[in-house]
Amino acid sequence: MATDRFGRNIHYLRISLTDHCNLRCVYCMSEDQTFKPNADLMQDDEILLLTKLFAKLGFDKIRLTGGEPTVRKNIVDIVRGIANTDGIDYLSMTTNGLLLSKLAKPLAEAGLQRVNISIDTLDPEKFKRLTRWGKLEDVWNGIIAAEKAGLTPVKLNAVVVKGYNESDVVDLARLTIEHPWQVRFIEMMPFAEATDIQTGQITTAAEIQERIENVMGPMEIANDGKLDGEARLFRLPNGKGDVGFISSVTNPFCASCTRARLTADGRLRLCLLREKEVDLLTPLREGATLDELQHIILGGIWEKPWGHGLAQGVIPLNRAMNEIGG
Ligand code: 5AD
Ligand code: SF4
Repeated sequence: MATDRFGRNIHYLRISLTDHCNLRCVYCMSEDQTFKPNADLMQDDEILLLTKLFAKLGFDKIRLTGGEPTVRKNIVDIVRGIANTDGIDYLSMTTNGLLLSKLAKPLAEAGLQRVNISIDTLDPEKFKRLTRWGKLEDVWNGIIAAEKAGLTPVKLNAVVVKGYNESDVVDLARLTIEHPWQVRFIEMMPFAEATDIQTGQITTAAEIQERIENVMGPMEIANDGKLDGEARLFRLPNGKGDVGFISSVTNPFCASCTRARLTADGRLRLCLLREKEVDLLTPLREGATLDELQHIILGGIWEKPWGHGLAQGVIPLNRAMNEIGG
């Protein structure tokens, strides 16, 4: 079991499969973003070997992220390999959904259990403005394909940016009346690359909730008030699904954090919002034994920072979001 010095049991690994993406969301990266050469990224066999090691250390839950994980070559085989790893009980993916209409079925057949799909607005023009390159219809088709393929319950992620989509939260929340989906509003977090937007145009979870309740009426607390992952859940009157709020900035959930992250270039990132990382890929390539690698992982986990320092103005600048995967 991997435990940190605060007694938290860390058993949830988020693996970024690539820093590349087929969108350029304004809150994530600049339009002329450059990416790492493929040779610097973990190769398929390296991902599977590290997965096995983490599973041996008690990690039972994996989420695949990016950049955009579905643009990775051999994504279906990677999913199959991870799903078949002893000890991995939960396997999900966070995706922008663009390629899901083709990939949802093969991914589900390979052992993927669920997806979280990012959709920040239901207005095609605003969607284009926020993602710079995206066509809303493709995401919508992806959501429907995911549901059809049994990648359920479908969870939808919306990052709310002032001046872009704060008036769209009601329409997004309304989706949960007709559909058994979880629509989650995520407070924008500051990283390198898009820091101006991220700090100047954040909309807080409380503001989003107020906007929704002003139109739709008060929501009921769902899930007995327990966090679902990092989301606080509510239900609209007559809702089939839930509305969630992920208030990483204004009301962080660090005390109950169970996660670690593997960046696309094979660094163990101990907290999303702290720069501290431990390199696993270099020792792996230099011939470290499995025991040595386990030792490095456990040492890193032990040193996991308690939580972020946004309130003190500490913003992690060593990486943009697309290299960590959220
Ligand atoms: N703050 C919060 N969420 C972000 N995402 C991307 N950049 C940010 C940011 N700066 C979201 C994406 C996706 C998930 C991986 O993280 O929209 O839903
Ligand atoms: Fe791509 Fe996700 Fe970043 Fe948007 S937020 S540019 S979809 S990695």
